[in-house]
Amino acid sequence: MRSRAIITSALPYANGEIHLGHVASTYLPADVTARFLGLKGVEAYHVCATDDFGTPILIQAEKEGREPEEYVAHWNRRDREDFEALGVRFDAFSSTSSPENVALAGEVFLALHGAGHIYESDVVQFYCEADGKFLPDRYVRGRCPSCGAADQYSDLCEACGGIPDEIEDPRCAICGNRPVKRGSAHYFFRLSGFAGRLEEWLEGNRNLQPDVKKYVLNWIRGGLSDWDITRDVRWGVPVPLEGAGGKVLYGWFDNHLAYVSAAFGLLRSRGADPEEFWNGADVYHFIGKDIAYHHYLLLAAVRMGLGERYKLPDYIPTRGHLTLQSRKISKSRGWYIGLREFLGWYPADYLRFYLALVSPYSQDDLNFDWDDFAARVNSELIGNVGNLANRALGFAKRAHGGRVPAPGPYGEADRAALGEIGSLAAEAGALMVANRLDRALRRILGFSASFNRYFQHAEPWKAGADACVHLSVNAVRSLAVVLHPFVPESAARMWSQLGLGGGGPSGQRWESASEVALGAGHEIGEPAPLFARVDAEGVRRRKEALGGGGRR
Ligand code: 2FM
Ligand code: ZN
Repeated sequence: MRSRAIITSALPYANGEIHLGHVASTYLPADVTARFLGLKGVEAYHVCATDDFGTPILIQAEKEGREPEEYVAHWNRRDREDFEALGVRFDAFSSTSSPENVALAGEVFLALHGAGHIYESDVVQFYCEADGKFLPDRYVRGRCPSCGAADQYSDLCEACGGIPDEIEDPRCAICGNRPVKRGSAHYFFRLSGFAGRLEEWLEGNRNLQPDVKKYVLNWIRGGLSDWDITRDVRWGVPVPLEGAGGKVLYGWFDNHLAYVSAAFGLLRSRGADPEEFWNGADVYHFIGKDIAYHHYLLLAAVRMGLGERYKLPDYIPTRGHLTLQSRKISKSRGWYIGLREFLGWYPADYLRFYLALVSPYSQDDLNFDWDDFAARVNSELIGNVGNLANRALGFAKRAHGGRVPAPGPYGEADRAALGEIGSLAAEAGALMVANRLDRALRRILGFSASFNRYFQHAEPWKAGADACVHLSVNAVRSLAVVLHPFVPESAARMWSQLGLGGGGPSGQRWESASEVALGAGHEIGEPAPLFARVDAEGVRRRKEALGGGGRR
């Protein structure tokens, strides 16, 4: 672990709200990691931006009769608000259409062009004579050649998930007329030229997940195609060459550069040398598995083509898709839960807790299940963690005048409990460092459960159990520290009930979770129930409303 880190979360497209799928695969694991690294004393920055360019966004803006600039600004604000409500903290949240990123994308294009990694070639494309426009990607709709579904995009069939080679019965998405085919000069990035170096990098980087590496290496061995990086639309970064004829860069050329431009803007504002910081930091790009190709190959090859001026990622934590009640999420079918909507029903920490617990560090899909959500929150977060805090602090309040009692002599069970505190930070920490956030959380819950048993057996309401109260109040402090990355708001409340200040748990060192930091006589705050149970009726209603399009 280096003493500095840059953490990025995949950039949300600026044309729709954040939903539970995005949170589970990307934003939550990234935020948990950033908070954990903060506790470890790493100077860690979490950056993100909205992904503003591209034909789907332009089409949507046009449909709503808005200028694309105004349209993306709306989603940028909305995303910021939703992330804040979830407790996902960004040190910078920029946009791919920011002047800094547009400038960087232009520079990068020219550098790659100058180094011979970009060449020009003719492409035959659909063209609408009525609109006088080339029609890339989503501008053409027609029948999917693989599954026969009508009215699909030329670059994606939503019915079968395929990418049509050649859409049948094509229609212009703007006016409905039949387009013609026309040649147009495009620019290509020579991805094929990087196959050897990409392979070497993938094989040499021990931090990348072996299962992803395996399929990415298979893509390379199957042969990489060069990549058409220009589009004939008006919304994008202009190709910075004379005579480029109003072409813009494809969104995937400029979007990942916002990782760099957003981080550099932040670092400069903090007085750091951005290049030195980036190149000396651990660089993490958190993503969902659907964009593995773009990160393991395109982004990596672009950085290689720049002579690794911006170092390649150390980690690309890649997680699977979220299913809802074991079914694929589909916005159009209403099989979907928006983040804002969810946070209107339950506290952010419930969602963070549940998703962190069920998200493995792998490509496996994970499932949001309403009954499981209620059960885990009620039994683990409330019945286990909340219960320990309540018991230990409530007892110290009632029986010891709100103070941590002196421990008295330690018996066998007390020594075992002391040992539990002693091993917590290192054991849970090792899992966190290995990105096994779900397992770390389970290890922490195991710690809490063992203190609940200890407290139960010690029967502190009988004489001679002061050591148990002493250690249990300290265990609550340990929990507040190690739970801070997962459930920051609850950890902060535990902290104030413990009567502690000092910037809250986020201001502590992770290792301090293994210290008996609260001495005899320490005055605790006001104990109060930390959580309210998830009631069965609410969950039943939400389950029923799913997919029906009805309000929940
Ligand atoms: O797939 C997506 O949602 C893209 N907007 C992700 C972009 S991440 C990038 F910038 F590398
Ligand atoms: Zn048309």
